Amino acid sequence: MIKVDISNVWGDLSLPDLLATEQEVFNAHKVLTEGKGPGSDFLGWLNLPTFEETEEMRRIRRAAERIRSDSQVFVVVGIGGSYLGPRAAIELVKGQNYNLTNDTQVFFAGNNLSTRAWQELCALLEGKDFSINIISKSGTTTEPAIATRALRWMLERKYGAEKAKKRIYVTTDPEKGALRQMATEEGYETFVIPPDVGGRYSVLTAVGLLPMAVAGINPTDVMLGAARARKELDVRSFENPAWQYAAIRNLLYRKGKKIEMLCCYEPSFKCFGGWWQQLFGESEGKDGKGIFPATAEFTADLHSLGQMIQQGERNLFETVVRFTPPRKKTAIELDWKNLDGLNYLEGKTLDFVEEQAFLGTLNAHVDGGVPVIVLQTDEVDADTIGELFYFFELSCGISAYMLGVNPFNQPGVEFYKKNMFHLLGKPGY
Ligand code: PA5
Repeated sequence: MIKVDISNVWGDLSLPDLLATEQEVFNAHKVLTEGKGPGSDFLGWLNLPTFEETEEMRRIRRAAERIRSDSQVFVVVGIGGSYLGPRAAIELVKGQNYNLTNDTQVFFAGNNLSTRAWQELCALLEGKDFSINIISKSGTTTEPAIATRALRWMLERKYGAEKAKKRIYVTTDPEKGALRQMATEEGYETFVIPPDVGGRYSVLTAVGLLPMAVAGINPTDVMLGAARARKELDVRSFENPAWQYAAIRNLLYRKGKKIEMLCCYEPSFKCFGGWWQQLFGESEGKDGKGIFPATAEFTADLHSLGQMIQQGERNLFETVVRFTPPRKKTAIELDWKNLDGLNYLEGKTLDFVEEQAFLGTLNAHVDGGVPVIVLQTDEVDADTIGELFYFFELSCGISAYMLGVNPFNQPGVEFYKKNMFHLLGKPGY
């Protein structure tokens, strides 16, 4: 189970400060679980994780087996909450180079408007058997809609209209929207984003689970990890790690720490950071409030952002995610000439060196006035990421209610779209 180490935040806060928020955290958690707060139409994610396998899960596994047997490439089309979760999970569990090792490669499209990225994808698909998964709750988002139109044509030209239909999987609202209508009319296999689950809280639906399953991650293990988290985080006291995380980040924000930097020493965590950034950024950044969610990859970014973190404006705190290192060790060898001067590390494991880097950085940043929350979790696997997803979702809901905002809307996202549609001449804009 995730442990939250808050022993490095006390420069700016005191234990009585934390304990004084008990009623506030209790109320935020209660309002969330009882559906009494703003945005309570979107609480379906709270109950998604279950220990029993649902029919939807069985369908996801069957579809994934079919895709793995008939496709060299699986293209996942979606943006925001409709792509960050699966990408985060696949990269974290399978590694950043998963497409070099997996039998079925998974590419993501429809999350940008870049001509270069599109042409690169077309080149990658050349001569390959492929299937697509169109993910959009609304079914009207411009970026995935443009990619969908082009990919459907590519499939039809390659396989003919009828065979192409068997290679198109749609994940969308069960009833509403243009994508649901398209899937019904064309006869595509569909998966559901429940109406009461918003995009950024949808990773534990088919949105996340189908691409994960195609990439070789067992969706049942992800759900078991999430279901365990759901059970273990249903505690109404500061023993609850989600309470500690939500309360401390709000207290630090009130002390002027306006930026939270989510850091990890695993390069494959980068996309998970992107998922977390959307979750907290869209949930909390409104009404002139919100902690700015930033991310950093250590140790690499210690050689770029390290200076700013150590001695720049004292407006940030860090949350460091730590995974138990792999059981298989890698040791540093002896070199008789010792030209690189590294013989003092001979026989030491790489994770020992990494641990010292973590401890040294932690102490330096705390000494420099940066409070550091440490989230300690198990080894990276499907179960652990299920747990992490649920932990952050629950913490975010509680934290946003403590902040006094609706965690489940994103009215600000519409502003750029209106301008863009006007410039593009879309009817009605
Ligand atoms: O969290 C959200 O709801 C958004 O970020 C959406 O996920 C994103 O805008 C994509 O929307 P849709 O799934 O409707 O295409």
